Amino acid sequence: MKWEQYNLEWNSEISNRDEKERIAERLAGIVQDGDVIGFGSGSTSYLAAKAIAKRVHEENIDIIAVPTSCEIDILCGSLGIKTAGIDKVKPDWSFDGADEYDDNGWLIKGRGAAMFKEKLNIINSEKVYILADSSKWVNRLGMNFDVPVECYPTAYRYVGQELLKLGADSCNLRTGKGKDGPIITENGNFIIDTKFSNINEDLEKEIKLIPGVIESGLFIGYDNIEILD
Ligand code: A5P
Repeated sequence: MKWEQYNLEWNSEISNRDEKERIAERLAGIVQDGDVIGFGSGSTSYLAAKAIAKRVHEENIDIIAVPTSCEIDILCGSLGIKTAGIDKVKPDWSFDGADEYDDNGWLIKGRGAAMFKEKLNIINSEKVYILADSSKWVNRLGMNFDVPVECYPTAYRYVGQELLKLGADSCNLRTGKGKDGPIITENGNFIIDTKFSNINEDLEKEIKLIPGVIESGLFIGYDNIEILD
């Protein structure tokens, strides 16, 4: 028996849709039969998942997706793509979107609050394609987006205090649509959106060392990353 599938469509207008669709098509062309692929989150990853599903069905390709969020997990189910957790399979390669990238290939991710599982996929893949439309390049990280920091809920005051000591200009507990108060991540935690005007190569590690921090949306010095733009 199979469950009736939900048809999950993207719930808002997709910015730069044509550009994102073109990048998604290129990415889908890379897929090979038998691949275990880390699937990222966000609207570009959503379009990539749809483009990959088309190939899977038209060419009878067998793949396994390792999803980084409930959003993409449910989407894979509705598209007929098999999924498994990273505790069961290791991705051959992964793809994901980004909020910002710079000339060093450093990233800010986590607008979708999914950076914990995104980092697990990225660190466990030999190759990662970052799908980045032209709005994502920045001269300096932090120009358009804050660095999101996922933290254990009761640690948020302490974590905020330590982020300020690391040079943050401001820390804001993320609140969101559909829920009063702070948003709760898929891992049951809070997100602190943190403004840094000076992001250096040590900052990702320094944030991670704060007790109570689960993960940050900074990706610095990952040499397995290729920007697909
Ligand atoms: C998800 O947590 C984010 O890191 C996304 O990958 C990022 O926000 C990119 O989003 P779009 O593909 O929707 O632009």
